[in-house]
Amino acid sequence: MTVVKVAILGFGTVGQGIYNILKDKREHFKTTLGVDIEVAKILVRNCSKQRDKIDAALLTDNMEDVLAVGGLDVVFEAIVGDEPAYSYLDQAIEKGINIVTANKVMFAKFGLTLQQKAAKYNVRVGYEATTAGGVPVIKTMENILRVNDVQHIQGILNGTSNYILTQMRTEGMSFEKALKAAQDLGYAEANPFDDVSGHDPFNKLMILSALAFGKQPRWSDVEVVGISEITLQQVKEADAIGKRYRHIAEVAIDETGVIRAKVGPELIGQEHPLYAIDGVNNAVALDTNFIGTLTLVGPGAGMYPTASVMIEDYADMLVKKSALVTV
Ligand code: NDP
Ligand code: HSE
Repeated sequence: MTVVKVAILGFGTVGQGIYNILKDKREHFKTTLGVDIEVAKILVRNCSKQRDKIDAALLTDNMEDVLAVGGLDVVFEAIVGDEPAYSYLDQAIEKGINIVTANKVMFAKFGLTLQQKAAKYNVRVGYEATTAGGVPVIKTMENILRVNDVQHIQGILNGTSNYILTQMRTEGMSFEKALKAAQDLGYAEANPFDDVSGHDPFNKLMILSALAFGKQPRWSDVEVVGISEITLQQVKEADAIGKRYRHIAEVAIDETGVIRAKVGPELIGQEHPLYAIDGVNNAVALDTNFIGTLTLVGPGAGMYPTASVMIEDYADMLVKKSALVTV
């Protein structure tokens, strides 16, 4: 049985999810993927933090230790912010190591650069978890785009905002209490300003734009509004007349190749396709030329939805690698 060594950057909500699944499903992966996946290193910011159920020898706060692991096949990146995450992944690619990331702040900015570099070094990049959590929008789009054009994308791309708006409407919860609950559940960013200001779904929209159209709009041209100005009173009044606030991100390309995008709350009625998307769920509606409109819905944040799609990214790499060997 081939042993493959992997490293995890970050041991918070997402990093722990990856570790737990890899550990719990180790035998399963031997059968389904034909390899024994061994976690060789875990990068954190603070090694002296109290952590349960983890061999302290696996931990490091120095990326050099990760890059020094012999035969490392992939790094799962789940740290916070664009740097040092980008530099770490750049270095990993240069060493011929595959990368899988959940970090949309970093990938919105550096995704295209990393993908170009990875192609040069013949390594693979997985980024399903950057956008819409457990919803397989990236892989679905990659498949669709082989035949279809995607002309317009509309969705709910932030689980925390949608959860807060849902709790305000269904439980009469205050904004602050609902945000605290989203943090406790592991949905919110380390700095939840990104969630409630609309910057998190903006980053995801830019990732989708790059995939669908090969480019992004100029960031300063995109209007970005969050949900923090929406009051409990407004949510109740809307509910009384059968309407709901949804935080909607939208991007489209016109026939001249100009891309327009916006991110912000909208008051919508029952006829709107995003009306019924409650809780931590995200939804992405893709308008295409041959299929028509395709809508994907599912958990947009959280430990296991996110960790599992990252491992799926890696499983895909392993399957494609073994297919190459057999053909
Ligand atoms: P957490 O805040 O729970 O965990 C972050 C982890 O990264 C911690 O272990 C921290 O170390 C480590 N870390 C942070 N900065 C550095 C650094 N500079 N060097 C080394 N280690 C660092 O975050 P999440 O797990 O929630 O999120 C991780 C990433 O995944 C983020 O980019 C986030 O946007 C993305 N993501 C999160 C989702 C979610 O549902 N939570 C869903 C999809 C994507 P230490 O433990 O020592 O503090
Ligand atoms: N904070 C993000 C959200 C995590 O709530 O959607 C998933 O990207």
